[in-house]
Amino acid sequence: MQEKLTALRDAALGELQIADSAKSVEELRVKYLGKKGELTAILKQMGGLSAEERPVIGALANTVRSEIENAIAARSAEVDAIELEHRLKAERIDVTLPGKTPRVGHKHPMSIVLDEAKDIFISMGFTVAEGPEVELSVYDFDKLNIPPNHTVREWSDTFYVAEDESVHLRCQTSPVQVRVMEKQSPPIRIISPGRVYRKDEVDATHSPMFHQIEGLVVDRGITLGDLKGTLNALVGKLYGTGTKTRFRPHHFPFTEPSCEVDVECFVCGGKGCRVCKGEGWIELLGSGMVHPKVLAGVGIDPDEYSGFAFGIGVERMTMLRFGIDDMRLLFENDTRFLSQF
Ligand code: DAH
Repeated sequence: MQEKLTALRDAALGELQIADSAKSVEELRVKYLGKKGELTAILKQMGGLSAEERPVIGALANTVRSEIENAIAARSAEVDAIELEHRLKAERIDVTLPGKTPRVGHKHPMSIVLDEAKDIFISMGFTVAEGPEVELSVYDFDKLNIPPNHTVREWSDTFYVAEDESVHLRCQTSPVQVRVMEKQSPPIRIISPGRVYRKDEVDATHSPMFHQIEGLVVDRGITLGDLKGTLNALVGKLYGTGTKTRFRPHHFPFTEPSCEVDVECFVCGGKGCRVCKGEGWIELLGSGMVHPKVLAGVGIDPDEYSGFAFGIGVERMTMLRFGIDDMRLLFENDTRFLSQF
């Protein structure tokens, strides 16, 4: 029995020496010291020993047990250290490697120009108003003094939502003028940027969806001089102080008198070229003095108050600002184009 115990110890210590993981050390512990382990098996045979032998073998068994236990503790500490070292090697992070630079986006050119325009108007005391894109025809047409037979009311021009023509995708931001005047009494000074929709084919200067900034000022004693001063200030800030403008008579049903405002061509400086189609000028916006009928329609007395209004094309404004000659570039989302701004 003595030999069995020492043989068991030698075997256990030998196997522990080559155990190379926490798992195999644990397996050896179960194999030798577990309840169904080899040491227990030997101790069960102690009943057959004589009274003299029993304490001797008992003492040896205890020694063997604690030798194996010590060896297990020592080996498992070694194995833990080895495993930790492996993990540290495998999971090492090289902080000196150059990082992967993330691609940072930026504002779309139209947002750049829109934000500039908003800042300019806000600095002149305007506030920003909003209106719905799905609009009642009453607001987009009737209350803006647009006659029943006007071509803009045709199905070929406008995206109707209701069969009875009472609702459509607004074709201009002008209905916001009416919505603001119905809620607020003068003095009024607002701009309203947003999307508008028209049944236009896509080409270099058209898109069925585009953006406008509407403007409206109503107060006592507002004149065409205020309109010119405000719009000239806008153009000067957007395109440089020396930029020339031209106020050209025009017709809009909701303003009287009405004018279109042109800006000197950014390519040829007024001489006439391909971009301005030989004109020397590029149209930027429509404007005028708010029609007395429109004022009266929202309960503002046209004898007491007057106002001016304007509608600017944001795509046009952006193209002029950056010298872009094709509107489609603004909608295609080609990052080779967009990254230039
Ligand atoms: N709504 C007009 C358009 O889309 C532009 C316009 C002209 C707006 C004159 C105005 C204005 O406010 O007074 O063509």
